Amino acid sequence: MIDRIVNANASDEEPQEVELEATLRPRDFKNYIGQERLKQNIQLAITAAKKRGEPLDHVLLHGPPGLGKTTMASVIAHEMGAQIRITSGPAIERAGDLASLLTNLENGDILFIDEIHRLNRNVEEVLYSAMEDFQLDIMIGKGPSARSLRLDLPKFTIIGATTRTGSLAAPLRDRFGMIHRLDFYTPEEIEQILMRAAHILNVAIDNVAAQTLAKRARLTPRIANRLLKRVRDYADVNGDGMINETTSRQALKLLDIDELGLDSADRSLLLAIMDNYDGGPVGLDTLAALTAEERGTIEEFYEPYLMQIGLLERTPKGRKLTPKAYRHLGRTSSQDSQAALL
Ligand code: ADE
Repeated sequence: MIDRIVNANASDEEPQEVELEATLRPRDFKNYIGQERLKQNIQLAITAAKKRGEPLDHVLLHGPPGLGKTTMASVIAHEMGAQIRITSGPAIERAGDLASLLTNLENGDILFIDEIHRLNRNVEEVLYSAMEDFQLDIMIGKGPSARSLRLDLPKFTIIGATTRTGSLAAPLRDRFGMIHRLDFYTPEEIEQILMRAAHILNVAIDNVAAQTLAKRARLTPRIANRLLKRVRDYADVNGDGMINETTSRQALKLLDIDELGLDSADRSLLLAIMDNYDGGPVGLDTLAALTAEERGTIEEFYEPYLMQIGLLERTPKGRKLTPKAYRHLGRTSSQDSQAALL
């Protein structure tokens, strides 16, 4: 995928960016802005688990990238007073890798598995029994001399994160006591997150500029923080370092990010549907071919935000643009022009 400032994925970021994110990450619920319902539910579960002296039930967090699934996992660990180990689906290649991770945990520890939908089948099956009864069934050796071994594990908590619940096997999904979706933030919450980040990074930004950035950050904290950094660069070079309405607008123009936070790749996708399929419906595979993007990239990165702000709809027949998408790109939809003729 091309390098997009509005790409909410963390994995292909430079180490510097990852470090920045770690600095800005809230450590506890008090400093975690937004996701109110999720926080209430988890806080209740944490209080109950602590009261009973038990580890927290397994938690599955799902939702578009950049909304704070990893952050939420470390906040949960902090609030539980538990240690957290962080890994990811693709990093656990064999059942043996999982066995070594699990046997090294202590009672109450949290194992965070990012991109849990990418676990391989063999590993997934070992994980079922581990999550259910804290026992590990592994095969030792091969052929006639192979035997199975059952190990008792400490009472741990798995926090799984995925951008696609749909592709999680049902037996795995069923092992989670809590399944929560992270929603897009409101522009007001993003503004608060920006002000908090600016304070931590010692960046001067006024309220109007924070509002402007908040509107263009795709309702996603990771993108908001990245925009803040880029706009700070602009203000440092072209001004006195103060981020105000003028510097923020100019910097965003240079980045080619429009009023709704769309970049040229988003606009090309919308235009492809408009110009080639009269606004749709068009199937996902066709759209992937038209834009030279992968299906998964379109589903995970482009669509959630475009649907959230009402530019795109998923219908049984395919993807369809809304009249708002036409208005945003300064075009007239055939629906609108028909209405004008009546
Ligand atoms: N930084 C990134 N996400 C955040 C959040 N939800 N609250 C506060 N700061 C953040």
